[in-house]
Amino acid sequence: MDMYAENILDHFQNPRHKGTLSAATISVEEVNPLCGDKLSLDLIIENGSIKDMAFSGSGCAISQASMSMVAEELNGKSLEEAEKLSKDTIYELLGVPISPARVKCAILSYALLKKSLILLKHQS
Ligand code: FES
Repeated sequence: MDMYAENILDHFQNPRHKGTLSAATISVEEVNPLCGDKLSLDLIIENGSIKDMAFSGSGCAISQASMSMVAEELNGKSLEEAEKLSKDTIYELLGVPISPARVKCAILSYALLKKSLILLKHQS
C-alpha cells in the first residue's frame, strides 16, 4: 500500500478543474499504457493564455492529483509559462518521491499538457 502525502490525497478527493469545457480550443486525451487509465484535458486559449482548463477521466491518486495540481498551477497562465512546466515541476508539486513504477502515473498530466501545446502550435 502506497503512502500518500496529504496534498496528494486532498487533490485526489477534491480535484481542481475537474470536468469538461464545451467551448474548448483544444481537447486531448492520453493513456497510461501500463494500466490503461485515461485522462482528457480541455483548454480554452485566449490571447496566448490559458483562460480555462478542465480535465476528466479516471486513474490512481497520483495521476489524478498530478493533473489537478498542474491545472491549478497553469490556469490563467500564458502558454509560454505552460511550456516551461517540466517533469521536475510535477515532482515538486507532488512533493513525495515517486517510485519508478509510478512515474508514468505522475507524468500522465505532463504528457497531456505537452500534447495540447504541440497541437495548439499546429493549429495556429
Ligand atoms: Fe493508472 Fe496510475 S495506476 S495512472
